[in-house]
Amino acid sequence: MSFQFLSFEPDADGLALITINRPEKRNALNQTVISELGEAFLMAHEDESVKALILTGAGDKAFVAGADIGEIAALDALEAERMSRRGQEIFRTLEIMRKPSVAAINGYALGGGLELAMCCTIRIASDNAQLGQPEVKLGIVPGYGATQRLPRLVGRGRALDLLLSGDSIDAAEAYRIGLVNAVTSPSELIATAKKWAHKVIANGPLAVALTMEAVDAGLNGDLQSGLRFESLAFGLTAASEDRREGTQAFLEKRKAAFTGR
Ligand code: COA
Repeated sequence: MSFQFLSFEPDADGLALITINRPEKRNALNQTVISELGEAFLMAHEDESVKALILTGAGDKAFVAGADIGEIAALDALEAERMSRRGQEIFRTLEIMRKPSVAAINGYALGGGLELAMCCTIRIASDNAQLGQPEVKLGIVPGYGATQRLPRLVGRGRALDLLLSGDSIDAAEAYRIGLVNAVTSPSELIATAKKWAHKVIANGPLAVALTMEAVDAGLNGDLQSGLRFESLAFGLTAASEDRREGTQAFLEKRKAAFTGR
């Protein structure tokens, strides 16, 4: 499939690199980009050869500098609510895909850009990255999930500081508060993201998928339901071929060859 503003490059190792390619507008998310992300996530979800995703932005300035402000300026209330809901649904498909994803943040990750990055399993930033939720400076509330995901990632106080001031923070500060998992030089960014993804997809696929689902279930519900989900998932993995292979490989001092069954 060919896209106007995205490239989707699966490799032979099972990693799909999705690059948002609108650098002259700092990769801002217009509605075409949002639709194309939806199609790319569906492709990644349905293609069994894709084991993990890496998201990045084209050029050396921006991951994504937010939703397209020109489009936002022209919306009425109902159109804006629909745009928010549609983007939230598409971003959520990435978050719950059960395939690990890395946001490789190669510059500005503002507004919808940071919201997209927060739907990835982890975030790795280049040392020139700037992250923030500047929506209040435009007189709007974030619409693609920041009011919900930012406090879950960095805590209520830090989230409200960023959300209400609209200030950007640099990569070092984002690392300090846990908003990004690692910081690298721009030239090492994609390689660092791939290294993490390779490490994860070498583990038992069923265990990885159910661990992601258990964390999501617990964070979105109560402790008791989360613990219940964990026990059931533990039971399921204990009955899997992957568990047999993983424990056997350990005892035989060899590398496990998982099948995801
Ligand atoms: N929506 C639409 N267009 C955007 C955009 C956005 N979110 N972010 C950048 N652009 C456009 C600019 O309008 C400019 O277009 P032009 O060349 O046709 O004038 C182009 O991208 C380059 O932007 P510019 O501001 O000149 O680049 P910069 O490197 O000096 O600054 C930013 C980069 C990201 C700091 C700055 O563009 C910015 O503040 N963008 C808005 C961020 C924002 O508020 N996002 C939240 C939106 S809800």
